[in-house]
Amino acid sequence: MTNKAKFQHWALNLDKDNLAWLCFDKHESSANVLSASVLEEFASIVEQLQLNLPDGLIIYSGKKNGFIMGADIKEFTKINSEEEAYTLIRQGQKVLDALEALACPTLSVINGYTLGGGLELAMACNYRIAINSDKPVIGLPEVQLGLHPGFGGTVRAVKIAGVRAAMKLMLTGKPIRVKAAKNNGLVDQLCSDEEWQNQARAMIKSKPKQATAPLIEKLLNLPFLRGFIAKTLIKQVSSKANKNHYPAPYAMIGLWQKHGASTTNGYKAEARSMAKLMCGSTSRNLIRVFFLQNKLKSQFPASDTNIKNIHVIGAGIMGGDIASWCALKGFNVTLQDRSTEDIAPALKRAEKLFAKKIRDNSLLEKTRSRLAEDLLGDGVANADLIIEAIYENLEAKKELYKKIETNMKSTAVLATNTSSILLEDLRVDLKQPEKFIGLHFFNPVSQLPLVEIISCNDTDGDTLQTGFNFVKKIGKSPLLCKSSEGFIVNRILAPYMAEAMHLSEEGMASIDIDKVAVNFGMPMGPVELVDTVGIDVALNVSKVLGKAFNRPIPKKLIDMVENNELGKKTGKGFYDWTFDGVSKPNATADETALIPDDAEDRLILPMLNEAVACLEEGIVLDSDMLDIGVIFGTGFAPFHGGPIQYAKERGLENIMMAFAKLEAKHGSRFKAHSGWLKLTK
Ligand code: NAI
Repeated sequence: MTNKAKFQHWALNLDKDNLAWLCFDKHESSANVLSASVLEEFASIVEQLQLNLPDGLIIYSGKKNGFIMGADIKEFTKINSEEEAYTLIRQGQKVLDALEALACPTLSVINGYTLGGGLELAMACNYRIAINSDKPVIGLPEVQLGLHPGFGGTVRAVKIAGVRAAMKLMLTGKPIRVKAAKNNGLVDQLCSDEEWQNQARAMIKSKPKQATAPLIEKLLNLPFLRGFIAKTLIKQVSSKANKNHYPAPYAMIGLWQKHGASTTNGYKAEARSMAKLMCGSTSRNLIRVFFLQNKLKSQFPASDTNIKNIHVIGAGIMGGDIASWCALKGFNVTLQDRSTEDIAPALKRAEKLFAKKIRDNSLLEKTRSRLAEDLLGDGVANADLIIEAIYENLEAKKELYKKIETNMKSTAVLATNTSSILLEDLRVDLKQPEKFIGLHFFNPVSQLPLVEIISCNDTDGDTLQTGFNFVKKIGKSPLLCKSSEGFIVNRILAPYMAEAMHLSEEGMASIDIDKVAVNFGMPMGPVELVDTVGIDVALNVSKVLGKAFNRPIPKKLIDMVENNELGKKTGKGFYDWTFDGVSKPNATADETALIPDDAEDRLILPMLNEAVACLEEGIVLDSDMLDIGVIFGTGFAPFHGGPIQYAKERGLENIMMAFAKLEAKHGSRFKAHSGWLKLTK
């Protein structure tokens, strides 16, 4: 071996002390990921090192953003069969086995993100040192893609960190900070950015004892205890994820229960299980969703926002929370309403949000100072973006625009958060209607990731780009859609909620209706959803969509609004929300109640029909954007991949038959939209 050897992705240097320094810097890539070609080169390097054994091997990253981000997920999508997947996974495992078996001490230098396969590679080394940082950068996040570690991680993590720490890391998929990793053995030593080379060298030379799980953890790994612990783990997992929808966490627990992190059987079993998951529909759909998120963010060319000052009018549920979120994300925000009393609750909520999100006191102070009450609306003249979020009334909104338009900067963008009024109606009196857009946030603003960016046919491209940049800058996902009744998310949710009302009127208990939807994979049943958004809001949306699409308005909603039963906010809706002030409805299911066989299709198919209508009417760019938008906006079961993907996976013919059956039994509201024909072709 020469002193220096250069590969496409790796560079190997042998120093005067006979230590091998191996730098991973993936060719033409901003981040290090373990692709097939990377692993191939790595395998041949390890082979060469075995033949010309150095006194130690130090693996480090050539990228500033971290060590290794994980495996190359793109390559997963090209795998066609479980057998092919198994072979590839076994090849990867063997490379790490060879690294582990090298007859010299080995060490990985963790300089930031070390995730999935990256951590698996680091765990195959004898030692790991990490450059100090406050960010959660070390993790095994595979479960978020419907998978589990496949390069020996399910075995090595338990061996090093113990079953409890390893399972927490794998089952939650949440990365941890380097200090936490040091506490559980995944990191041996912390070091500074300047000292890592000296520290790595010293560690290799002193050859300390390798980290292994503490004795108590080894005891927990004994066969007769594993069954008991596995039961507890399954109980914890099942409260969060349904086994039929998300098999990966159950597979992980099962692997450990059966093989107890055994190096004899554990790796092969892990590869088999991983191959099965990789080829299953949950993982395929979650990986697709992962890539679609990037597509959502690249609908416009990347460019920075020139917005600094934001003025929000209407300090209610939405305006108040939009204002505090923008201040949190670094913008100067003025918040206007009709009286101090109207603004006070929003400022109180802002205080809570800031306290929750910011730990540093000086940062907290700075954030607070960025949000100012502005009763007179002085902020309008200075604002780069004005977001109107007053109550849902066409005339009131138009009146307001008249007042503010004359004070706005010529370059400023005016946006509305309306949830149901057509932009064409709102902008009629504006001098520059083409510079008016919708920025439709969802409630609660701090939790929901999507913002619909609404445009008309002649909306100015630069204005849209400004809106798009702004939404990205505040950490939300922008979904472009054309102005139309209900836009996308409300339009798709409306028939789902309406059908829940039909089922309710037929006597089905609210809790059963919700159970059907949750079993399908929705995060919340439609009845609970109606109670959460407010019966008055749901009625308003029903009226708008009812008028546009000639659909009846559920009578129950009208009666409830008349009785001031507005859902969660008044304590009474379909559920009783007063019970102990808890966030779950006060209702218990009647386990003997009969649930109609077609209840699931009755709730879900109307959403698919509406999704197809949105596509056909060109409200959304394409079916990919629609799928990801509906997942982010409604929580539509991500493992189904979105409404169109679900329909395709189930089979379009099957869907058509289901519509025909429902239409024959329940009437024309189940008539399949003509757009399905194009899809079936
Ligand atoms: P809200 O009723 O909680 O708040 C409206 C606020 O606007 C009130 O504080 C009111 O005093 C203020 N206001 C009314 N006229 C004003 C004026 N001329 N000048 C200054 N302030 C004025 O309403 P919410 O729920 O926050 O809705 C606001 C907008 O957001 C509506 O267009 C609604 O359709 C939309 N939206 C609502 C969602 C929700 O879940 N509540 C979700 C998404 C959009």
